[in-house]
This record gives sequence, structure tokens and C-alpha cells, in this order.
Amino acid sequence: MADAFKARYSSGAQIRTGKIRSAAACAAAAVIVSRRLKVRSQKCTARKILLEFQEACYTPLARLRQVVDAMAVEMHAGLVSEGGSKLKMLPTYIDRLPDGHERGLYYAVDLGGTNFRVLRVQLGGLEGRVIKQEYEEVAIPPELMLGTSEQLFDFIAKELVSFVAREGQDFRLHAGQNREIGFTFSFPVKQTAVNSGTLLQWTKGFKVNDAVGEDVVAALQRGIERRGYKMRIAALVNDTVGTLAGGRYWNNDVMIGVILGTGTNACYVERAEAVSKWAGDIPKSGEMVINMEWGNFWSSHLPRTYVDESLDNESLNPGEYGFEKMISGMYLGDCVRRVLVRMAQEACIFGTPVPHKLLEAFSLMTPDMSKMHHDDSSDLKVVAEVLKRVYGIQNTTVGIRKIVVAVCDTVCQRGARLAAAGIVGILKKIGRDGSAANGVIKRNTFEQSDMNGFHDEVPVHYTSGGRTVVAMDGGLYEHYTKFRNYMQEAVVELLGEGSKNVVIELSKDGSGIGAALLAASHAEYVIS
Ligand code: BGC
Repeated sequence: MADAFKARYSSGAQIRTGKIRSAAACAAAAVIVSRRLKVRSQKCTARKILLEFQEACYTPLARLRQVVDAMAVEMHAGLVSEGGSKLKMLPTYIDRLPDGHERGLYYAVDLGGTNFRVLRVQLGGLEGRVIKQEYEEVAIPPELMLGTSEQLFDFIAKELVSFVAREGQDFRLHAGQNREIGFTFSFPVKQTAVNSGTLLQWTKGFKVNDAVGEDVVAALQRGIERRGYKMRIAALVNDTVGTLAGGRYWNNDVMIGVILGTGTNACYVERAEAVSKWAGDIPKSGEMVINMEWGNFWSSHLPRTYVDESLDNESLNPGEYGFEKMISGMYLGDCVRRVLVRMAQEACIFGTPVPHKLLEAFSLMTPDMSKMHHDDSSDLKVVAEVLKRVYGIQNTTVGIRKIVVAVCDTVCQRGARLAAAGIVGILKKIGRDGSAANGVIKRNTFEQSDMNGFHDEVPVHYTSGGRTVVAMDGGLYEHYTKFRNYMQEAVVELLGEGSKNVVIELSKDGSGIGAALLAASHAEYVIS
């Protein structure tokens, strides 16, 4: 009896234990299911945000064509009158570009992005060309970007004179020749001569308030004199103009200079007669280089989103440089970050609370965006690494990482296609978009570049029409492969057959040497 009771009792206990176990298993399964459901719903919300953003950024061919037309129209308007357009279309007083005859020793200083550069070059005329060059680069101390004009120009002068002091025997000044300098200053300047001009406003995170309205050449000249040196600033040039000049030195077909780097801009060779607002004499060459300051271009056809609005509102120059904020290296990473913030807040894709650092403006730099975008590992481990390193975000699923890559792709593609539309807008304005060419293709080839220091970027095709070369510089174009590819594809899409006459050449660091070449061609002491 007792045994029977025991047996019954113990089997009852087993049943209870079994029930408890299965209840626990059920609860665990429920947790897993609910976690999966939560992840799925997070992903679903994140996808919705992505889709909405992709739609808002969409740049189909028809829209790009509208941007091209708007660019050409605004160029016209900006040439007609001061303030006629958001495109500043600034005459540069450069009416002749280097042609290879330049001789002697020249210097260049280059202030424009995150780095400052000094350079010297010994030019040997048509036979010798660039005999020797040397340069040095230093990072600009961040406090100088927001300090006073005197501090900034003193820093430039100090770096310049210490570089000059280290001039070696291989570099020679002609007897009686002063050191002449090309000053690349990559901000909007209203020039009053080839070697003077006042700063209109700052861009790219600089804000040295007392320099606005000041003659930047005089400011640098004072800095040099304070250090007891005698040098002459022979030319003040925008980096686009330096790039154009550096390109033209090797190749007569170079008509346009473009920078796609921290900031973005373009310049081109215009018929002087087309510059109606120009009050001076028409130069002998009949031409004038125009610094467009295309970063400030605006058109209702640009695909503006909530991301662009918030970025602009929180920038150092709200309401200004809207095109630059959609295209250039300073801003692309931050556009991506802003979409990720929305996903983190509304879909909790990075858990709760939202990682603090993600809320910090400019915490995602474009080089990191580019790394994530180019991640071709099956589990997107580079994306995981960047999210962890920059934001301390761990344990992301591959699905979420894919969404992050798609955001990078959307921002990159939009910027690249808009840059392409900008270039085609210039080609259209100067009648070189192929619409006038007869389009007979004689031969297609990958041409070896004849431009010293230039690399071939796109297949070069000859037609019976002339070709136009765009000299390009800037880290965004050079290092962000997918950006470069999207841009080139869009140029071909827009120009069709006409693209066979257009070559985009990377002119690496062309702007420094271009400024030195312009100093040579505008020198006080001309060596023949
Ligand atoms: C400046 C331009 C410059 C461009 C590229 C822009 O922010 O306004 O003058 O050419 O950046 O450096």
C-alpha cells in the first residue's frame, strides 16, 4: 500500500516537474518569439524610414536634367548682375592661364580645408617644366578656425616663413627676383585685382568673424612682414582656379576646375563678353575665369529632405551653401547620421536609450561612411566595427547593418548625381555638352594621360568634335570610389553620346602647383 502510495506520489511529482519544465520552456520560447517580433518590427519601422528617405532623395534622369537646366540658367543670372543669383559667379581677374613658358622659383600657400599646405616649385619653361617641387602639410589647429583674423593669418605666415627658411640649394631665385607667392584661399572672395580680394563669408566650419570683409591678401602680407620677411603675393586664387590652372599647364583642353572634397565648387573659362556685370576692360584674351561658388547654388528641383533642413539649421552658415551641404565631404557623413538617429529613436535599432554620441552633430565622418559603404564582407563586419568604434554600438544584426549601408548608398548616390548635374550644367552653359557636336565616333580608346601627375579616370573617346577636360581634385572624389563611379555614370547618362567628348581627370593636389603657376604668370619680375 505504502509502496503503491509512494509510486503514485512520485509519479505525481514527476508530472509536476515535467509541467514546470514545459512551462519554463514555453516562457523562454515566448521571450524568443517576442524578441524576434520586436526585432522584426524594429526592422520594419527602420525599413519604412529608409524607403521614405530613398524616395525623397530620388534623382531620376528627368530630375537631373532639371537641375542641369537650373544650373545653366542661374549661371547666366549670376553673370548679369551682382546678387542676380545665389550662384556668386565671381570674376577672378585671371584672363590667361599658364601655358608652360613659366620659369623660376615660386611659392604657394594653400588654406581651404582641414589642412594647410606650403609649396615651392622650380619651373623650367617648356623644356624643363616642373624641375623640382617640395611641399609640407600641417593640420589647422581647430581653435584657429573659430579665432581671430590675426591669429589665423599669423599662423599661415609663420608656417610659410619657416618653410622658406629651409629652402635648399636646388631652388634658385634669379638675381633681383623677390619670392612671389600664389595664395590659394578656398573660400568665397570678391576679388578687386588678381592679387587682392575681400572675404564674403566663411564656409566648411570656419568662422573667423573679423576676417569677413577684410582683404585677405593684405592680412597675409601683414603677417609676413611682422616676421621680417619680404615676399610678394602675386595671385590670390580659389582652389578650383588653382586646379584649372594646374590642369591647363599640361593640357589645353582643360576648361573647368572642380573640387569635391571637404567643400565643393567649380570654376570655368567664360567669354569675357558674357560677364555683363564686369565693369573693367575686356581682356586681350577675351576670356575670364569665373569662380562659381556652386556650393551656394539653389533650385526647387533639388531633392531636399528633413535631413537637409535640420543639418542646415544647425550649421554655422544656415540658409547658405545648400548644394554643398548635399554633396561635399564635410556633410555627407552627417546626413547619414541624421537618418540613423531617426531610426534609433523611432525603431530603436541600436537599443535603448539612443547611444549618446550618435546625437552629436558631425560625429560620423565621411571617411567612416565610405568605409561602411564599401564593406563587401558577407556579414558586414566593417559596418559593425565602425558602429562599435564610433558609437560603442554592439550586437547589431546583419539586417540592421544592411539598412545602415543602404542609408550610406542613398546619401552618396544623391550627392554624386547632383555633382554630375552641376558639371553638365557648366558644359551646357559653355556649349560643350555635346548637343552641338556631330557625334561621329572615330575611335574609342583608353588613352594614356599626357598630363603629368594626372590619372585617367574614364575611358576617353575621340569624336570629330573637340574634347573638354574637367580637372578634378578633392579627397571625396579621390577616395570615395562609389561616389566617383555614381558621378561618372550620371555624367554619361546625362550626356549620352556627348559624354565621349568629356574627360574628367583627377588632378591630385593640382591647386597648389596651379597657384604657384599663376604667381609665375602674374609675377612682377618676369623671367624670359
Ligand atoms: C568654398 C569654395 C571652395 C570649395 C572647395 C567651398 O566651401 O566656398 O570657395 O572652392 O569649398 O574647397
